Amino acid sequence: MTGTETQPGDHVELDTVPVDEEVVLVFDFGSQTAQLIARRVREQNVFCQIVRHDLSAERVKELNPKGIIFSGGPASVYGDGAPQPDPAIFDLDIPMLGICYGMQVLCRYLGSDVIPGNSREFGRTTCRVHEPNEFFAKLPEELTVWMSHGDQVDNLDSQFISLAATSSCPYAAVKHRSRPIFGLQFHPEVTHTDFGGQLLSNFVRRVCGCHGTWRISSLIDREIDSIRERVGKSRVICGLSGGVDSSVVAALLYRALGSQLSCIFVDNGMLRKGEAEAVRSQFQEHFKTDLHVVDARQRFLGELAGVTDPQQKRKIIGKVFIDVFRSEAESIEDARFLAQGTLYPDVIESGANADGPAETIKSHHNVGGLPEELGFELIEPLRDLFKDEVRKMGLELGLPEKLIWRHPFPGPGLAVRCLGEITEDRLKILREADAIVLEELQNAGWYRKVQQAFAVLLPIQTVGVMGDGRTYEYVLAVRAVSTDDFMTADWSQLPHDLLGKISTRITNSVRGVNRVVYDISSKPPSTIEWE
Ligand code: XMP
Repeated sequence: MTGTETQPGDHVELDTVPVDEEVVLVFDFGSQTAQLIARRVREQNVFCQIVRHDLSAERVKELNPKGIIFSGGPASVYGDGAPQPDPAIFDLDIPMLGICYGMQVLCRYLGSDVIPGNSREFGRTTCRVHEPNEFFAKLPEELTVWMSHGDQVDNLDSQFISLAATSSCPYAAVKHRSRPIFGLQFHPEVTHTDFGGQLLSNFVRRVCGCHGTWRISSLIDREIDSIRERVGKSRVICGLSGGVDSSVVAALLYRALGSQLSCIFVDNGMLRKGEAEAVRSQFQEHFKTDLHVVDARQRFLGELAGVTDPQQKRKIIGKVFIDVFRSEAESIEDARFLAQGTLYPDVIESGANADGPAETIKSHHNVGGLPEELGFELIEPLRDLFKDEVRKMGLELGLPEKLIWRHPFPGPGLAVRCLGEITEDRLKILREADAIVLEELQNAGWYRKVQQAFAVLLPIQTVGVMGDGRTYEYVLAVRAVSTDDFMTADWSQLPHDLLGKISTRITNSVRGVNRVVYDISSKPPSTIEWE
C-alpha cells in the first residue's frame, strides 16, 4: 500500500506464541495493513503473530507455523535496500501467501520477473477468476478487489499459473504449480475487497489445514496459569482508568490472584461527569480486593493553571500522574509486579517505529504509560490481543456490556477537550455538556454506532440572545467519529434531529454556552481529539 507505511522494522520477539496452538505468521514488509491481515486470520480462530520480514528460517522452524503470509510494503522488489526474507524460508515447505509486495517477493525468489506496471493502479477494480481452485472456493467468478501497486509480476515462471486477472493485471492471483504457495496482487485484508475474509479463510483453513481451535476462553485459562506461576505469593498493582483495557486486566488478575491484587485509581480532575463514582461502584461490584482511590484533583489543576499548549498539558499530566501513582504504589507492601493493559497494536507500533522516521504527531504513548524506574516487574496479559479480542475477553470474564463498549477516553482526559486554559468552571461546563451528548446518543441508539463521541469546549465566546438580553458565552463543539482503528476516521453522519436535540438541551441547560457546532472533519487531515 502507499501512504504512511511503517518501516519494516523490529517486531517483538516471539516467545509468546502459544505452544500446541495453530499459528500463522505474518511477515511484515512495511505494510500499513499487516495488523488487518493478522486480525482477519484471528477471525478464523487461528492465532496469528506479526513478525519481522527477515525472521530466520531457524526461528520459523521452531515456531512451527501452519502458514506464512508475506504482507505488502512500500518498496519496489528491485529497489536499493528492498526488504528481503531469509531465502531458506522457501525450503521449509510451509504454505505461503504473498500479498502485493509480498507476492512479488515470493514470485521473484521462485523465478519470475517483476516489472514496473504501465501505470500505478490504485483503488477498486474488477477481478475475474479463470482457474477454479480451492483458494477461490465459495467465491463468485467476478469480484471487486482493492489494488494499490506500481510493480507487478510478469512472464510468470513455468512454476506458477495465473488464477485470476484484472483488465490491467494478468496475474492478479497466482499459484505455484506443485507447492501450496499463492500470491495476490490485490489486498484481501481491506474491506474494499469483496470476499477478502473468505479468501483468507480459504488460505488458512483449506490451504494451511488449520482447524480454528484458538479461543479467548483457552487464552484466559492459559494467562491465569502463567500469572499464578510468575507471581507466586507476591502482590500485584494494577492501575485502573475506568476504561476497557485496565478493567479487563484487573478482572483477569483478580480471577488469577484474588486478594493478592491491589488497584490504584488516580482521580486527576479531568474525568467526565460521574466517572470517578462509576469506577468505584463497578469495582466494588466485581472485585472484593484492595482499591486505592487517590484524589489528586487539586494537584493536577494547580500544575495545569495557565497552561494552554496541548503538548505541555499532556507532559504535565503524564509527569504528575507518575508522581502520584508512584507514591501511592510505594505505600502498598510486598508489591513486586505492576500490571498494564498494553495491547498488541501498541507493541507492534512501538516496535515498528522504534528506529523509524515516523513523526510524533501527538505524544500519546507518554501519557499513562508508567516508566520502568518505578522498579516493578511488568505484567502485560493483553499484549497479544487486539481491542475486539480484549472486549470478548472482558465479556467472558463477566464484566458488564456497558463497560465493555465504552468509547475510548484519552489519558489526559478533559484537559485536551477544554481548549485554552483549564479552570474548574470551564471543566464543569464541559462535563455537563459532554454528559448530555453521551446521554442523547445512548437514548437514540447511536452510542454503539459511533466509535467515539464527546464535547469540546472552545476558548472563544460568541454573541447570543436570551430573552431580551444579549449573551456573550462559549462555543461548544460536538464530535462523533466512525472508525475501525482510530488511525483514520470519518465524521459520523448523526441524524439532524438528534443533533438538534443535543444543541437545544445544551444551550438551554448548560450555563456558559450559547452556541453548539458539529465537527464535520475526517481524520486525516484532522485528528479525532481537538488538541
Ligand atoms: P487522535 O486525536 O490522535 O486520537 O486522532 C486517536 C485516538 O487516541 C486517543 N488519544 C489519546 N489517548 N493519550 C491517550 O491515552 C493521549 O494523549 C491521547 N490523544 C488522543 C483519542 O481519544 C483517540 O481515541
